[in-house]
Amino acid sequence: MGKKVTVVGAGFYGSTTAQRLAEYDIFETVVLTDIIEGKPAGLALDLNQSRAIEGYETKVIGASTGPNGEGYEAIEGSDVVVVTAGLPRKPGMSRMDLLEVNAKIVRQVAENIAKYAPNAVVIVVSNPVDEMTALAQLATQFPKNRVFGQAGVLDTARFTNFIAEELNVPVKSVKALTLGSHGDTMVPVPSRCTVDGKPLSELLPADKIEELVVRTRNGGAEVVALLKTGSAYYAPSAAAARMAKAVAEDSGVVMPVCAWVDGEYGISGVYLGVEAELGAQGIKKVVEDKLTDTELAGLKEAAEAVRAKQADVAGL
Ligand code: APR
Repeated sequence: MGKKVTVVGAGFYGSTTAQRLAEYDIFETVVLTDIIEGKPAGLALDLNQSRAIEGYETKVIGASTGPNGEGYEAIEGSDVVVVTAGLPRKPGMSRMDLLEVNAKIVRQVAENIAKYAPNAVVIVVSNPVDEMTALAQLATQFPKNRVFGQAGVLDTARFTNFIAEELNVPVKSVKALTLGSHGDTMVPVPSRCTVDGKPLSELLPADKIEELVVRTRNGGAEVVALLKTGSAYYAPSAAAARMAKAVAEDSGVVMPVCAWVDGEYGISGVYLGVEAELGAQGIKKVVEDKLTDTELAGLKEAAEAVRAKQADVAGL
């Protein structure tokens, strides 16, 4: 049987994710759903008509869903479900301002995933992602390894891009890493950043690195401020699609993701941005690596900040 992936939410993030997943040509089916009548079917039709040009066989199916789970049969048998449903930020908003409105949406989506695709691995991208991931796990009651969130791949890609531009080197020369939350307590990890194998600290002065760290932390807001309506989706969808691919291929590739942390770095009982090995069952294992004292302190601070918020979502 070929693999099936569902993308819930056919807005900018969801539709570009569906496009990337289809163009990989590794899935038999990509399902795109939304509460808007007709839109997912229209996008699916349009994507399928690009197959002859782009040269892929994956079939895209669009399905509209109702408030009581109508239409969710379309997701049955999904190996992976990417949840993009929810409101994006407006200029001046923090991701946390979306907490209540998106919690309602994500809870309802998660309950339907549990009902219609009980064996799926769930990748959450709706914001605030650390909290929405915790909520999706609660609402699905899936094992914690089968629910995780997208943040670190995107934040790391942003950091990588800024470093490459600053030093005028190819992005592929740069290895970077960000951990922690997808927000104010994001932890870019300069000690794990290299350019052609050389430590970043030998190539840039500390204040310049700090400037790039700050720009990375505000990477999403910078895009939102320019777009005026909606938030980033090209880099975010690239990140989510790569994660879904790693699951579908059971590749074991290590990526920074929002995963359940249970003792690693001396932190327990919280969804937090850490590196993890991805496979068919979601998180195979959280990978712990060396951090400087400052970076570790930042990670612990992020854990406490998201822990408090994640406790709140249980009641939303
Ligand atoms: N089920 C399915 N889809 C839903 C639901 C629901 N219950 N509620 C809302 N949606 C859909 C909307 O109809 C809309 O088409 O989610 C889509 C969101 O699309 P956009 O508004 O274009 O937002 P997008 O840029 O795709 O961002 C989605 O990802 O990065 C995060 O902060 C961002 O939370 C936001 C999410």
